[in-house]
Amino acid sequence: MSSSSAVAFARQNHPRFLDELKALLRIPSVSTDPEHKDDCRKAAEVLLAELKRIGMENARLIEGEGHPLVYADWLHAAGKPTVLIYGHYDVQPPDPLDEWLSPPFEPTERNGNIYARGAVDDKGQVVAQVKALESLMAANGKLPLNVRVLFEGEEEVGGETIEKYVASKAADLKADFALVSDTELFAPGLPTLCVGLRGMIYTELEVRGAKTDLHSGMYGGAAPNPFVSICQIIAKLKDEQGHILIPGFYDGIIPPSPEELAAWKSLPFDEEEYRKTEVGSKQLVGESGYSVLERTWARPTVEVHGIPGGFIGAGAKTVIPAKATAKISMRLVPGMTPQKAFDLYKSYVEKIAPVGVDVEVRLIHAGDACLIPVNNRYIQAAVRALHEVWGKDTVFIRSGGSIPIVGDFDRNLGLPSVMMGFGLPDDNIHAPNEKFHLKNFELGIVSLIRFLEEVGS
Ligand code: BES
Ligand code: MN
Ligand code: MN
Repeated sequence: MSSSSAVAFARQNHPRFLDELKALLRIPSVSTDPEHKDDCRKAAEVLLAELKRIGMENARLIEGEGHPLVYADWLHAAGKPTVLIYGHYDVQPPDPLDEWLSPPFEPTERNGNIYARGAVDDKGQVVAQVKALESLMAANGKLPLNVRVLFEGEEEVGGETIEKYVASKAADLKADFALVSDTELFAPGLPTLCVGLRGMIYTELEVRGAKTDLHSGMYGGAAPNPFVSICQIIAKLKDEQGHILIPGFYDGIIPPSPEELAAWKSLPFDEEEYRKTEVGSKQLVGESGYSVLERTWARPTVEVHGIPGGFIGAGAKTVIPAKATAKISMRLVPGMTPQKAFDLYKSYVEKIAPVGVDVEVRLIHAGDACLIPVNNRYIQAAVRALHEVWGKDTVFIRSGGSIPIVGDFDRNLGLPSVMMGFGLPDDNIHAPNEKFHLKNFELGIVSLIRFLEEVGS
């Protein structure tokens, strides 16, 4: 096990670190819900105060149209590299509430985990980053390298404010690499760096039929039903083999290299175990001819998230609703662009729209896929630090999830990212009973400390 005086400080202060994480988890900073706008700001202010308290400089909120960014820096390590540390303080909505064993915004410790919305995605990991900085600063009176911190509060809704900021203020973010802690280990105890993410487009499809809701007996048989139409459209997005039917959708996709595919084959992955313990369905589905890791990391998908509208109250109501909407997203992979994917999807839906209804396709948010270069000293330093802390060689994986800004760090700022995260595959992110394994919170802080020391050495 590794040691340095900063690591010793982190170990001594662990109970307090956990208390401070709990305080942040009690703030319901749900970015998508306008009712929680003030809570998002409150979470930003807590982080801002923390960054000031531990000795970071120029700490401030950066305002955009949505929830504020949190910025701070410490730039006194002459001749050393500069890291841009990124994470997000916003969280997904906690519903369905009745499936939580303890309330989502009352952090609760159970069997070695802390349960709360945002525990691991991403407040626990943001706090781990801040605590690594605090430990380094407290133990040495300085940091081993130059540091800029940039936290956002809109990651879960597409990250518009940070995207605009990064595009327009590149000069204020001069750095050598980015450190992103918003990913997971491939398996418990297995040090992992994520080197690729899928992109996405999130859309809403609205279908309108009659001019108003109608009695389904009087008009059924003559009036179009937008729910039926929406289902007919959805049914034509993919075939039964999981192949997406939007013409041109797969054009230009860059497949993983043979080396990367071979590396994935040697990861400790048991498909049957994954089906049973993580997914819990009687069978896995998806595009034939590709492994589960390929399907979730390197192939695009279409998912339907909800079809709000119509009659959903208790009992029965005989109505033909005038309109229906569906929330539909697509994950994208390298070689695809959000704009092109959206255009292809939109014209396909307009073409297959059933008679009698009007369709409208809206883009809610979009982000590019990314693939991170691994041949650099930052990745090498990360591998050394992780080996020291976890006693194992690092595995390189991709993730099917999206973190829209990571691609922009590369494209707009020219920064390679080190995606070092400490979640576990069964942490229930975006789902009821989200958790962070306490050991991973602790070793995550130590890993981040040792990584930053390694880069600065
Ligand atoms: N941290 C996740 C992305 C992630 C999940 C990375 C699992 C690695 C492993 C992130 O907070 C997230 O959920 N992103 C959204 C982005 C979207 C709303 C633009 C996602 O992937 O759905
Ligand atoms: Mn996240
Ligand atoms: Mn998330």
